[in-house]
Amino acid sequence: MQPGQQRLVVVSNRLPAAIKRDGDGWTVKAGAGGLVTALAPVLKNRGGVWIGWAGNSDPEMDVDSLLEDFSSSAGYDLYTVPLTKKEVDGYYFGFSNEIIWPLFHDLQTRCRFHPMYWRMFLDVNFKFAELVARKTTSDDYIWIQDYHLMHQAFFLKSMGVKRNLGFFLHIPFPTPDIFMKLPWRWKVIQALTEFDLVGFQTMQDRKNFTECLRRLMPETRVVGRGAVVSVDMGNRQFRLGAFPISIDFNQFSELAEQPEVVEESFKIKEALRHRKIILGVDRLDYTKGIPERIRSIQTLLRRYPELIGRINFVQIAVPSREEVDEYKELRIEIEQLVGRVNGEFSFPGWVPVHYHYKSFPPEELVAYYSAADIALVTPLRDGMNLVAKEYCACNVNEDGVLVLSEFAGAAAQLQKDAYLVNPYDMEGIAKALNRAFHWDKEERRGHMANLRDNIRKNNIYWWVDSFLNAGIAKSLGDFPEVDTLQFERG
Ligand code: UDP
Ligand code: G6P
Repeated sequence: MQPGQQRLVVVSNRLPAAIKRDGDGWTVKAGAGGLVTALAPVLKNRGGVWIGWAGNSDPEMDVDSLLEDFSSSAGYDLYTVPLTKKEVDGYYFGFSNEIIWPLFHDLQTRCRFHPMYWRMFLDVNFKFAELVARKTTSDDYIWIQDYHLMHQAFFLKSMGVKRNLGFFLHIPFPTPDIFMKLPWRWKVIQALTEFDLVGFQTMQDRKNFTECLRRLMPETRVVGRGAVVSVDMGNRQFRLGAFPISIDFNQFSELAEQPEVVEESFKIKEALRHRKIILGVDRLDYTKGIPERIRSIQTLLRRYPELIGRINFVQIAVPSREEVDEYKELRIEIEQLVGRVNGEFSFPGWVPVHYHYKSFPPEELVAYYSAADIALVTPLRDGMNLVAKEYCACNVNEDGVLVLSEFAGAAAQLQKDAYLVNPYDMEGIAKALNRAFHWDKEERRGHMANLRDNIRKNNIYWWVDSFLNAGIAKSLGDFPEVDTLQFERG
């Protein structure tokens, strides 16, 4: 922390370290997903406190001593919120994963609107707020992350605790026709209005939110223009902003240039006989469009048989939310599809799809990114999608192509230089891949250089600064004009 800087307290459901069973003992592993990737370098760089759940509900476990080493090497303090199995089931698996996650990703038919989930969500939010109140002072800046903790400001205020409170939603905010299906829609919107600043990934998410707000609270007025606006509630005001999250560009780019990583990347290419590599990297999640993506590889090979034997599609699927039935079923579906496509096209010495169901250490992941000729990033809906940005950061030779879903938040920012596709349109994706193979070196270099400049400039530190400027500034005119609108005008 720099002298005079406010202490930053990040609060998220998941800590950057998760405690997992390992035989008879426990191990501490890095948490999966974009939230952790984005925020870990920020706290490491700036210092502060991270409050969250350690990913386990075993009452026997001594969490604090297990996390001690992690905390001292990370350079910031960790405080854990212990949760019982019942709380994890209702608040995390239930309300967060079976209601808000599918609903906010426009997949309302997957929602289970169980009233018990809602009650557990409130109980656990109250429990988090109690710890936040105890571990912080009114001099701190409290930054709440993501949909699991939308009621933090509501409970802190009801306890009479005064804090400067920002909230950032990492996932999309849906349009009113979808949001209005939530049985607790008014209470959720109202709880969000209790924050001092609410941040979204894109201008579209922010617009969706203000439209829901107007429907549910017609007396509110949105004042101002630009990246940050103010909402007048009559008796108080709060702010709304669009802040596209990013990555530590230099960390990825420098790792891609490390000799061991360059060597590993070469080994990957060699093992695949220097065929063109198309790469997919995702948590195994139904929002990521993995089955549709495998079907588009099948379509590619059917429509363009000259590519048979000349490409490899590598899909890295990181295990996620494995206790949830939908995720178990999705894993089976993906594995069957991989088998079907490989069964249809393989010949001795070549299989089209290489599928990995595991998490990779950073060096190996970066080696895959730099080995890939095309990144195929086709979520059905995504708040941002950091994989798209990581791929570009690692493409230090500037000869790769990013094929990106138009429904990823990243599309608003990267649309000029990525090849945008509709993730549901298998023929369209196949056509895009075939065209991308024919882009000449100059075309690929031009687009990739622009993508890298864009992400280098709008990196994770830019994101933190723009959010904190808006959160800490006294008046709307106080913070420099951070023009996130630039991404969405074109
Ligand atoms: N990732 C990881 N381990 C892996 C593969 C990927 O931790 O083996 C990371 C990846 O580097 C990225 C994150 O998982 O930072 C995925 O973030 P994204 O925003 O793309 O999607 P999310 O998982 O947050 O929905
Ligand atoms: C997304 C969410 C994060 C979440 C991550 C991993 O990135 O926005 O809040 O932590 O997925 O999911 P999990 O349920 O394992 O925390």
